[in-house]
Amino acid sequence: MANIAVVGAAGYVGLAYSVSLAAFGHRVIGVDRDPGRIWMLNDGVAPIHEPELPELLQRGLATGLLTFTTDYATAIPPAEFVFICVGTPSTETGAADTSAIVAAATAIARQSKGRTIVVNKSTMPVGSAQFVADILAEHAPSGVTFTVVSNPEFLREGSAIYDIFHPDRIVLGADDLDAAHAVGDLYNTLNAAILITQPRTAEMVKYASNAFLATKISFINEVALICDQLDADVDVVARGMGMDARITPRFLHAGLGFGGSCFPKDVRALAAMARENACDSPLLNAVLDINAGMRSHVIAKVRRRLGTLTGATIGLFGLSFKPETDDIREAPAISLIEELLAQEATVQATDPVANAHIAARFPEVRLAADAYGAAMSADAVILVTEWPAYRSLNLDRIANAMRGRLVVDGRNVLDPGKVASAGLVYEGIGRPRNEGAGTRITVLPGAEPLRAQPRPESVIDSHPLASRGD
Ligand code: UDX
Repeated sequence: MANIAVVGAAGYVGLAYSVSLAAFGHRVIGVDRDPGRIWMLNDGVAPIHEPELPELLQRGLATGLLTFTTDYATAIPPAEFVFICVGTPSTETGAADTSAIVAAATAIARQSKGRTIVVNKSTMPVGSAQFVADILAEHAPSGVTFTVVSNPEFLREGSAIYDIFHPDRIVLGADDLDAAHAVGDLYNTLNAAILITQPRTAEMVKYASNAFLATKISFINEVALICDQLDADVDVVARGMGMDARITPRFLHAGLGFGGSCFPKDVRALAAMARENACDSPLLNAVLDINAGMRSHVIAKVRRRLGTLTGATIGLFGLSFKPETDDIREAPAISLIEELLAQEATVQATDPVANAHIAARFPEVRLAADAYGAAMSADAVILVTEWPAYRSLNLDRIANAMRGRLVVDGRNVLDPGKVASAGLVYEGIGRPRNEGAGTRITVLPGAEPLRAQPRPESVIDSHPLASRGD
């Protein structure tokens, strides 16, 4: 059992790690500058919507392994490890804003009492391990020493706790191998693969991973736009591509594109780091442009069908950036609402958990309790976020509620044939116009393809073609 302080414990990453580290059996004190949230947390109330989080929070509080405070002087002195989980939002240039990191590192330095390992958990620009070490050294009282280990998180909102408990890998960046192993030991109940490397490389693993996944999404979205013109089915294309073991079918779902607190921010930050260091990043810029274009593409589809958006009533199903979260940061719904309001449409929207956030930001949007309410008298509806409830809608009820006929499926999750059977007009993203064509797909099971078998490492290393990246 280790003594751990988590700085930024009321935020998304900090809270998920606070409750999980306590569940691993460590003694965790979460510290955050937001007194309202700390008060809620000590009361056992989770301030964010995340599966399994409330249960782990309550269990941690009940066992006494987990407490929360706003006071660094309480949290930091007993800690052998301090996790920095503060936010690094985008600045105007797209670069990461590191001011919260500076504040956290300064406060940690001032309050530490002995040898402390500081774990950089937030996504931080390349070079941040050294940056944090310099701040700690500058403010540390005499006799206090720090080692910084970069340990980026890879968790997804909506399955953050699952991801912490089932990581594909744990990445540790440290110049001090003992410190890296000490941080690795905090996760020893997980039995996960661990990659230990230099801090700068570890920091880049995080940015490159997010940028690559975002690239897969923008790639399939670009293919979807071409499919729209050529009357091919992007979902079947993605399936066929994904059967190649080198490609995999994951992150190949075409639609309104990515949002959230990570992909857009991290791709922008990586592009900004490239720019600041005189490197071109045309691919990263294209990934962002294609993503923004998907929102415009859906608006254009609706406008084309309705003739004009002015005076039209548009229903939006789903407002969070993805299902199982109430997070609306950079959600496609926001761009759609802004564009629809700018074109003087009336927007009726609904989400299982994010209505309040949209109400606070867009008082002019009419919020409904469910999809049937959002469809009421609508000229068109757009499925924006693929919440399970929207996959199995009663389409006759939707058709009865609507004034118009158009259903734009921004996530390709509805059955075009069923939508048509309800007397509605279906438009997906990169799905064929001839109804039901998407269902003309046959997959005959076969043996595992030979290429999917991992080759022994010695063969890869010594094979003359290995350097050609076959
Ligand atoms: C992501 C990364 O997955 C995670 O490793 C990192 O730590 C933080 O960023 P998250 O933003 O929570 O996690 O969600 P994710 O499930 O990865 O989806 C991101 C966005 O991409 C969502 O808006 C989702 O709708 C979209 N997406 C995802 C697609 O449009 N198509 C896909 O095939 C997959």
